[in-house]
Amino acid sequence: MRWFVTGSEGQLGTALRRRLGELGEPCWGRDLELDVADPEAVADELASLPGGPPEVLVNAAAFTQVDRCEQEPELAARINALAPAGLARLCSERGIRFVHISTDYVFDGEGEKPYREEDPPAPRSVYGHTKWQGERAAMAECSELLLVRTSWVFGRGRNFIAAILGQAERVAAGEGALRVVDDQRGRPTYAQDLAEAIRVLVAGGHRGLFHFANDGEASWWDLARAVLDRSGYGGLEIERIATLALDLPAPRPRYSVLDLGKARKAGVPMRPWQEALEAYLASEDGSAVPVP
Ligand SMILES: NC(=O)c1ccc[n+]([C@@H]2O[C@H](COP(=O)([O-])OP(=O)(O)OC[C@H]3O[C@@H](n4cnc5c(N)ncnc54)[C@H](OP(=O)(O)O)[C@@H]3O)[C@@H](O)[C@H]2O)c1
Repeated sequence: MRWFVTGSEGQLGTALRRRLGELGEPCWGRDLELDVADPEAVADELASLPGGPPEVLVNAAAFTQVDRCEQEPELAARINALAPAGLARLCSERGIRFVHISTDYVFDGEGEKPYREEDPPAPRSVYGHTKWQGERAAMAECSELLLVRTSWVFGRGRNFIAAILGQAERVAAGEGALRVVDDQRGRPTYAQDLAEAIRVLVAGGHRGLFHFANDGEASWWDLARAVLDRSGYGGLEIERIATLALDLPAPRPRYSVLDLGKARKAGVPMRPWQEALEAYLASEDGSAVPVP
């Protein structure tokens, strides 16, 4: 199959290009140089590809900085809601399979059991709201849409694990202390596993909404602990703190564990997040310089 990936330098975009490259599937991608919210520019780009438009377009572009979205709601709406609507329309008109990605932050996090695909979203942040708008707009424009919700993604680039490793380096050098929230629970997801899940769902001809994450659940504190224990920082203490103590602009869901039953039934491989974390730390992504 011939693929095109928007947001191709992001965590998922990078992972997808790598996985498709390994399998020898032709894949093109653009990041910020192609504004995903400009459908005409995207249409021109697709038409100019060798061999013409792709068979599959994956929209891995998003405004993912949850706190910045609160401060820049118009930009968030443009990238997270308007762009998928335009891409969905374009794909629908040209017979291209459209894959869009959304988030566990569409849920309010007040639940007690894993969120299933049919559970009603009730986002609390601008990021969650705009992503949910994007889901609905893409569904309305493209009946053949494959929509994958995921959570707590780590891959190449800016992410929680890279941030924790950066902080650990400073704490080990005698600067500051590690404090991590312990009252939010979710499912960490390795971008490489998400890329494979998308590939398997597309190859299986699946459409509609699927949840995908790595198996198991964790708090951010659990994840930070697991990272340090596997990175030579096992001796460093991490203080458990409440989300409120950080006084962040965007509210976070307290519990945003996604139910994985539907993707499992579809044959999507799903390993525990601890195994995925080890694979990440051993990869070139995980050994990249920690983000300050
Ligand atoms: N990261 C998570 O924890 C997480 C959790 C749940 C769901 N998701 C969803 O998973 C998908 C992939 O996320 P990710 O973690 O791979 O995100 P990411 O690493 O932030 O990558 C997104 C990419 O899109 C680019 N981009 C932003 N605005 C653009 C525009 N107007 N045109 C073209 N490209 C643009 C970004 O560039 P800049 O970085 O230069 O802005 C970035 O390279 C997104 O739909 C996200 O909402 C992510």
